[in-house]
Amino acid sequence: MESKRRYTITSALPYTNGKIHIGHLAGAYIPADIYARFKRETDNDVAYICGSDEHGVAISIRAKKEKKTPKEIIDKYHDLIKKSFSDFGISFDNYSRTSSKIHHETASEFFKFLESKKVFEIKDSKQLYDPKENQFLADRFVEGECPHCGFEHAYGDQCENCGSSLSPEDLINPISKISGSKPIEKETKHWYLPLGNYEEFLKEWFLEGKKNTAKTNVYGQVKSWVDQGLESRAITRDLDWGIPVPSEDGKGKVLYVWFDAPIGYISSTKEWAERENKNWEPYWKDKNTKLVHFIGKDNIVFHCIIFPIILKAHGEYILPENVPANEFLNLEGNKFSTSKNWAIWLDEFLMDFPGMQDSLRYTLTVNAPETKDNDFTWKDFQARNNNELVATFGNFINRVFVLTHKYFDGSVPENNGLNDIDLEVLKKTYEYPKLISESLDNFKFRQAVSLLIDLSRLGNKYLADEEPWKLYKSGELERVKQIMFVSLQVCGMLAILSHPFLPNASKKIKEIINLKETKWTEINIDNPILNSQNKINKPELIFRKIEDEEIENQVEKLKG
Ligand code: MF3
Ligand code: ZN
Repeated sequence: MESKRRYTITSALPYTNGKIHIGHLAGAYIPADIYARFKRETDNDVAYICGSDEHGVAISIRAKKEKKTPKEIIDKYHDLIKKSFSDFGISFDNYSRTSSKIHHETASEFFKFLESKKVFEIKDSKQLYDPKENQFLADRFVEGECPHCGFEHAYGDQCENCGSSLSPEDLINPISKISGSKPIEKETKHWYLPLGNYEEFLKEWFLEGKKNTAKTNVYGQVKSWVDQGLESRAITRDLDWGIPVPSEDGKGKVLYVWFDAPIGYISSTKEWAERENKNWEPYWKDKNTKLVHFIGKDNIVFHCIIFPIILKAHGEYILPENVPANEFLNLEGNKFSTSKNWAIWLDEFLMDFPGMQDSLRYTLTVNAPETKDNDFTWKDFQARNNNELVATFGNFINRVFVLTHKYFDGSVPENNGLNDIDLEVLKKTYEYPKLISESLDNFKFRQAVSLLIDLSRLGNKYLADEEPWKLYKSGELERVKQIMFVSLQVCGMLAILSHPFLPNASKKIKEIINLKETKWTEINIDNPILNSQNKINKPELIFRKIEDEEIENQVEKLKG
């Protein structure tokens, strides 16, 4: 197993215009958290970075709706989002916000540096303008018909129906979202990033270089963008909410939110490093650092094309090693929708199912939209929890602890004279760190978490085959010792390997078996995880069953 590498791991910065729901979790947060925990457990130097994305038109629109200032909106949702991530147990090393001073400075410096290198094109062009409000209509301030699929409520930056990326001028019959009036065209100056100049770079770095390591869904999207030909993209806007364009001609203009937000990963790293008394630069500039972005599929173009071009144009930065984007999660057969309140909000889940973070993490991982869109249903959540966590994983651990107490008063017995079956089970058990590591290194989270459950199945089968309870009755105590010794090693292994997936369960089990911090890289079959020094405490249940009634209530709440 490789060890001691530096990893910079990011999760998409959520917009602070609404709460977090479980669709967000499945896309960018749970897999990233698993990966970050895994990399820490295998003895690497990890910075797991996130923060709030607080600029952009989505925030202004929300502010108008709630009759508040954008600042009030971001403060409210930043606090809500930060708290629900922390209650849920996402292990960010830093959670920053793009309204912070350090971010404004970092993004402005970035822009100025690129401008001094003459990276941008500066052009005048006609753009949509609301004559009533005296305001340009960027991005989501304008809606209209999608020129590609005919969807009537496409935004000025994207059609959420067919996924194509748009400019406000592309819309058929555009309408201002602010006043409802028909926009006119007006000339204005903007800074453009000439993506077309970087086609060769993208072909070599991504299409060639990532052929074998990028996920197929990600690779396919990037290839089709590059094949279609890349046009220059405006990275400034005529808006009053955002980071002011730091240039003489930039008055009244701000940086495009998708220019500043990814730089937020860098400013959040700086904030963390300052607090921790570290140097931030190796995390972004050292060629040996692996940079990994976790996102949902709607963010692929920004993380595989635009941000890498910005980093490349700067020249001093490393590029992402991988961008393992997930597809979308649906909910009971329909798309998540904030406006239709078709969602399971994280803060509400935590209130309705206190202490059951691991059950949600498990379901969203084993059923993750890794290669295609997938569906979350409450029934499936219940079944996964009850059958896999309670009846398989939890049941095995509990049986072993109860028997150890019954036979040996909670002591781990000696392993005198293991037979072939025992040795085979031990050997298999000690293969799991490698198997699970390989899956996680390939971003196969579903496979990785299934392996964990397989290990508990192996334990259950061993107990059922060997039947120590019968041997105990007939007085074959030496044989019972051997069986319990082996079973306890499987428990120890489950405690260690479950940490990235089920951190609360892992902690509980480690406490019960009095297991000290063990890195995966220290595990060695010749040095058993548990020995006579590990007293087993009184067992407590690790998971609990979910009753039909709880599920019926949730379905009703959703549909009501
Ligand atoms: N706020 C964006 C979204 O929710 C994601 C921003 S990711 C970053 O889709 F790279 F820009 F930070
Ligand atoms: Zn469309």
